[in-house]
Amino acid sequence: MPGKPMRMYEDCMGTLGARNQVIGRKSIYEASEYVYVAVLVAEQGYFLTVFGMMFALDNASIPGEEKAAYELCIHDYQEADAAMNRTSYRLERVRKGLPEHCGVNLGDEYRAALRGLGACRDSLAKLPNSPLLDVVKNNYDRTMVAYMVGKLIGIK
Ligand SMILES: *[C@@H]1O[C@H](CO)[C@@H](O)[C@H](O)[C@H]1NC(C)=O
Repeated sequence: MPGKPMRMYEDCMGTLGARNQVIGRKSIYEASEYVYVAVLVAEQGYFLTVFGMMFALDNASIPGEEKAAYELCIHDYQEADAAMNRTSYRLERVRKGLPEHCGVNLGDEYRAALRGLGACRDSLAKLPNSPLLDVVKNNYDRTMVAYMVGKLIGIK
């Protein structure tokens, strides 16, 4: 395995493995808990945002172009949510098998989620003023954080 993913894998094994000897065997399992929880927290944010968009779609005073953007966003969020669901499902299994399962290949899933959220953010950014733009940016940032935390256990 060439390049960066392998280094991440070695970081996972090396750094967390070494620390294991200092503070006990638990650190790698703790790291995997953070990775898992970060995904669940991101997904919780999606749920609330989609709820907000559905609520806005029911509001007769909201302009048509804003509603059209929310409809697109709901589709983007479905894709992001599906990707993060697959991620949490894999992590649920992987974290029990660490450290042997450091370096699980889930980067495509995180990136798919980021792509969906980024598409929604860009649609809302074109509107004169969307109260949900900041919320979507926050979902994007949390997902990015979840991805970066995932690097701790060598996620590629
Ligand atoms: C509906 O949208 C308008 C305009 O954005 C807003 O002022 C109003 O509070 C919304 N109504 C509800 C029930 O959210």
